[in-house]
Amino acid sequence: MTAIRPRTRKSLLVIHIVASVALLGEVWGLVVLNTAATLTNDLALAHAAYRLMPALVFAGGIPLSMLSLVTGVLLGLTSHWGVLRHVWVAAKLALLLATICAGMFLFDPEGMAAATEGAAQVASSRQWAQVASLGCQLAMLMLATGLSVFKPRTRMSRLRPAR
Ligand code: HEM
Repeated sequence: MTAIRPRTRKSLLVIHIVASVALLGEVWGLVVLNTAATLTNDLALAHAAYRLMPALVFAGGIPLSMLSLVTGVLLGLTSHWGVLRHVWVAAKLALLLATICAGMFLFDPEGMAAATEGAAQVASSRQWAQVASLGCQLAMLMLATGLSVFKPRTRMSRLRPAR
């Protein structure tokens, strides 16, 4: 464990909380926008919504998730919490990585924008799949927030089978 000055640590914590909770807000915004695009009868409006989503992803989701990841790992490495020492920190790392992977491999606003070009209709199952993948990301980030506040004290070593 490398100790850092309390003031530096608090600044890091502020950046971590702001980035992580802002990420949750960004995903919530995308859930709302995708649900509206799925439910509307105005196909041109749905297309416009899908075209705007990458702006939220590139200006919000990607930088915020990277900032949350880097500051979270630094906070773990420079404290008694560690990164893989306590279940709540390791679980948050897994949840954030799963959120990033879901964003990379399941959420596809560019594909949806291309499919709805010229106000074309797409299968609603495809639209709901987008809402579902974002809903899972939202649930994972909410769980991470809960873990951060309750900090269950279980250590990772207690999960390993005794020899
Ligand atoms: C998934 C998104 C995340 C959210 C929503 C989140 C949220 C938070 C919040 C609200 C706190 C403040 C808790 C408090 O001071 O009582 C916190 C602290 C912390 N987070 Fe995260 N976090 C996330 C990801 C991560 C990741 C990926 C790591 C490390 C791998 C991490 C490591 C930590 C550590 C070590 C602290 C404790 C700092 C301290 O009290 O000294 N977090 N997090």
